[in-house]
Amino acid sequence: MPRAFEMTARQLSIEAMEPDDWPAVRDIYLAGLATGDASFEISAPDWEKWEAKYPRQFRLVARDDRGAVLGWAALTAVSDRRVYAGVMEVSVYVASDARRGGIGEKLLRALVDVSERGGIWTLQSGVFPENTASIRLHLKCGFREVGRRERLGKREGVWRDALLLERRSDVAGMD
Ligand SMILES: CC(C)(COP(=O)(O)OP(=O)(O)OC[C@H]1O[C@@H](n2cnc3c(N)ncnc32)[C@H](O)[C@@H]1OP(=O)(O)O)[C@@H](O)C(=O)NCCC(=O)NCCS
Repeated sequence: MPRAFEMTARQLSIEAMEPDDWPAVRDIYLAGLATGDASFEISAPDWEKWEAKYPRQFRLVARDDRGAVLGWAALTAVSDRRVYAGVMEVSVYVASDARRGGIGEKLLRALVDVSERGGIWTLQSGVFPENTASIRLHLKCGFREVGRRERLGKREGVWRDALLLERRSDVAGMD
């Protein structure tokens, strides 16, 4: 790992995402989508749509010591039914030149923490089986594999399976 990055990794801070972070968040998102293994999506929405999808309370960025965004993580509701009020879906993306430095783990652990403090009891993630990094990251952070959803949808014309990963809190949703 280059020395410069070791330095920034040590000085990483996890903070709330601000609207000004959107261009960097969008670029990191697009680079993640370009791997072909991150999501069924192939393009980024505009800010208004993104902002409406990910509640302010549940979106985080990782910054280096100069404030540059190296990654982001956010939650979106899975349903508007009352029974699912404490169930949310995870997105986590790290800049391509900053991957494998522990940033994804720091972001996801912080997001779990914020979610539990916000009363969210279940986090879920749909991950392509080919996305070894994401699977490893989620399992490390307390998610379990619920099952494999076969030929769930097409990405660029190709049917893809998805693993459903889930983390049930033992702090939130216990009353
Ligand atoms: C998935 C992603 C967020 C992981 O972030 P990261 O900062 O690289 O992950 P970390 O460095 O915190 O690593 C977490 C764990 O995953 C492992 N890991 C990371 N990248 C890996 C890879 N390419 N292959 C195998 N394991 C990998 C790490 O080794 C670590 O496990 P360990 O401590 O047991 O060794 C990042 O690879 C990414 O942004 N990918 C593109 C977007 C994407 O796929 N997002 C997820 C959508 S479901």
